[in-house]
Formats: sequence, structure tokens, C-alpha cells
Amino acid sequence: YSHQPKFPEGFMWGASSAAWQVEGATEEGGRSISAIDLNSKTKKPFADNSIAADHYHHFKEDVALMAECGFTSYRFSLAWPRIIPASDGKVNEEGVAFYNALIDELVANGIEPIVTLYHYDMPLWVEEELGGWKSRKTIAAFEQYARVCFERFGDRVKYWLSINEQNMQIAYGDWLGVSKGCHDWFRDQWRINHIINLCHATAVNLCHELVPGGKIGPVPGMVPIYPETCRPMDQIAAMNAEEFTEKIWNDTYAYGEYSDFVKRYWKNNDIDPGIEPGDEQLMKSAKIDFFAINCYRSNTAKWAPADAKEHPYELNKTGNKGELVFPVVPGAYQLVYNPYVEYTDWDWEIDPISIRYVMRYMWDHYRLPLMITENGFGAHEHKDSEGKVHDQYRIDFLRENIYQLGLAIEDGCEIIGYNPWSFTDLLSTGNGIEKRYGFVYVDTTDDELNEAQDRGEIPACRRIKKDSFYWYSKLIKSNGAEW
Ligand code: BG6
Repeated sequence: YSHQPKFPEGFMWGASSAAWQVEGATEEGGRSISAIDLNSKTKKPFADNSIAADHYHHFKEDVALMAECGFTSYRFSLAWPRIIPASDGKVNEEGVAFYNALIDELVANGIEPIVTLYHYDMPLWVEEELGGWKSRKTIAAFEQYARVCFERFGDRVKYWLSINEQNMQIAYGDWLGVSKGCHDWFRDQWRINHIINLCHATAVNLCHELVPGGKIGPVPGMVPIYPETCRPMDQIAAMNAEEFTEKIWNDTYAYGEYSDFVKRYWKNNDIDPGIEPGDEQLMKSAKIDFFAINCYRSNTAKWAPADAKEHPYELNKTGNKGELVFPVVPGAYQLVYNPYVEYTDWDWEIDPISIRYVMRYMWDHYRLPLMITENGFGAHEHKDSEGKVHDQYRIDFLRENIYQLGLAIEDGCEIIGYNPWSFTDLLSTGNGIEKRYGFVYVDTTDDELNEAQDRGEIPACRRIKKDSFYWYSKLIKSNGAEW
């Protein structure tokens, strides 16, 4: 490190989670089933989300640990099926009470809540009775849910996030089951995407109407795309990949209208995104206050000719089968291996410079304040003989990311917070609790969670502070000065 960048006063240091990945208690407190609960059951032998990190029962202890660590913010999501469990639209007061208790606990400890409305846990009733994201009926249901959240929690929650990684849900439709039931995903994805955009816009306007001093932004998952070589067509391929995985969404959020790029793409491919009268006005009226950004890695692209064959993109450096399948987009781009970075055990690029790139890119394009709502290092982890967890690789990864974030601030970007994934270990999207991200180890395994669930029990899920907890604590208590 050439020097130590300075972070602004009041910078929000914390960590991040999502309800379905951390809470557990899926059938407690009046919560109804979510489509993601069923999706998580397809990931066997990994545990599903029934128990997860059992944060539902440990939330006071977890917030006490956050306070001990020195957190000034915590980004988490509300579970729609915990708040509106059925199609009668009745508010589940027990669910509201749980989130009130969590928010009160955070506020009492000086921790700013940053709250995501939707992080993948669509109530099953919305999917089955309304048609989920495929149906415009879902817009009114989402509006009612968002209204309840703003009315019940908006007195204490000032930072709101609309929908987590809409771009990734559309670009990689299979992964979380968003494409389930679609017969022509190539076309259907744009209708679904349009409906999600209308939900986002509705939430943005409602937040401004109902939450005094409330601010709201979207949460794109940002993966910069580097060109494989300086061959000019590789640069165009990288730009194409950025469009199809990120830029189409960011432009829509920032400008409230679809870009010429995507409109031309729809026209050329005979795609009707289902825009109805009034939709464009709604989108235009929704002015976001900031971008929340999830940023873990980078990708690399090369040009793919129009006759390029689709085949799965599998990095195999570590011998693991890559967990995401990235198709070739003939005539646009193909993702490739990057020899200049290391890879995690799950074939994710270890590329801290990508966070500086993303910050620069977003600030230069949109001139809106930025906050990191996810960044982190997934690893297989175990306690040593003394019951401790030594995660130096995570410390190295986060330190380098924070350094690069500091450089982005020096580059002129307005960045207001850093909330990496995750505080405690929690359920990953596809690899149970085996893929751990936390500063705090949750002392259980997928096998134990599976067995306990079969017996109808909940394991102790003891919390153990990892080495990264102590390191992060020093760093954030000194506002980034001691690392
Ligand atoms: C983000 C999601 O894309 O990545 C989280 O918002 C997710 O929900 C995180 O957990 C890490 O991904 P994974 O697949 O390792 O859990």
C-alpha cells in the first residue's frame, strides 16, 4: 500500500445479510412459505433455509456483537412472507414485532439500519395466486407490502433499498428460480424485468411520500467486465457484456427510461417488454437517491461471432465446477478466464481493484452517492483445536478492497458506506452454510442443520468471533485508519 486513504466522517461501516439467508424460523412467527424456501430445498445435500443462522432467535446477541465490533450501520432485508403472509393482505403483527425489535435494538446501539424491501423471498401466495413476477397483479401486492414497511418502520429506517440484484435475477434467471414456469425465457425475461421495474419505481415514490427524510436506491450486482485483449472487438464485447448484465438496469434506475441500446435489442429480436400506457411516466417519476452496490468480483469477455456455439462457462482452476453457468451470447460476447487474478474455491475472481473500477464507473456515469452493500470472501472454514477460526485470507481480501475503495474516494467518488457480506455466516445462495462469508462463525454444518431439521430441532448455532472480526473492529473504530 502506497499510503492509507482517508474515509469521510460519518462513513457507514457495517455488514450485510438477507432475511431468507440468515433468519431461519421459516414457519415461525406467522411467516408463510416463500418460493425461495422451495428453491433452497433443491440444493441438497446443502441445508435449506429453514434454520439458516437462526438469527430469528439470536438477533439480540447478533446486534450486541455488531455493537462490540463498532458497527455504525447494518444492511438487512425484510421478509415479505413474514409481513404479509397471505393473499388477504392482512399484516402479520408478529412479523412486524420481530422487525421492530431488531430495528429498536440496532438504533439503541447507534447502528443505522439500511433495509432492503426485497431480497429474493417472494411469498408463495404471490407466485401461485398472482403469478409472481410474471404478472402485473404483483405490482399492487408489492405496493401494499412496501407501504406497510414504510409506515411501520419509516420512523426509524431512513435508508431503503428496493430490490436486490434485479439485474442478476434477470441475467441469470435459472439460478434463483426466477425463470420457473417460463416457456420462452429469452423473451419473457424482459416482461418480468419490466414488472420488477414498475415495482421498484412504485417503492421509490412511496418511500419519498411516506418516510420523512427517507432515501431509497436500487441494489445492482456489479461485476466489471474487462476485455480479454486490446483487440478492438474484445472491447466492444466487454461493453456488450456490461450492457446485458448491468448497464441496461443502471440506466433505467438513474434516468427513469429504457436506453436506446435495449430498445434496439428488443426491436431486432422481436421482443415485446409489455410496456403499457402510464408505465413510462411512472418510471420517469421515480428519482433514486443513491446506488447501493454489491461487488465481489470481475469477469473478462472476448468477442463471440454470430455463429458462436452456446456452451457453459466453467472455470476450473481450482478443480471445482463453477457454480454459475454463463452462456455465450453469439454476436455479442463470451466470458473467459482471466490469468491475471486468483480465484476462490468457487471460481470467483479475487480482484479488489474491481471495486475501484465499479465506483469510478458508477460515479462517472450517474453522479449519485454510492454505498457498498455487499463485498466478501466465501470460504470453507473450520474451527481449530482451540475452537478458533483463523481467516487471514478474508482479512487480506477485505483490506485490499477497503484500500481500493479509499482510492476511489480519492479519485473523487462520493461513497457513503461499506457493508460487506456478511456479519455472521449464513446460508449461501447455492452452497448451504458450507460457503462461509462471516466475521462471526456460526458453529454448525449443513449435515447438522439437515439432521436437526429432520428431528424438528434447532442446533445451538453458537457464535464464534473469527480473526477478521477483531481486525475489522479495529479498522472501523478508527474510521479506516488502523488496518
Ligand atoms: C449476492 C446476493 O449476489 O451474492 C446474496 O445478493 C448472496 O444473496 C451473495 O448470498 C453471495 O453469493 P453466494 O452464492 O456465495 O451466496
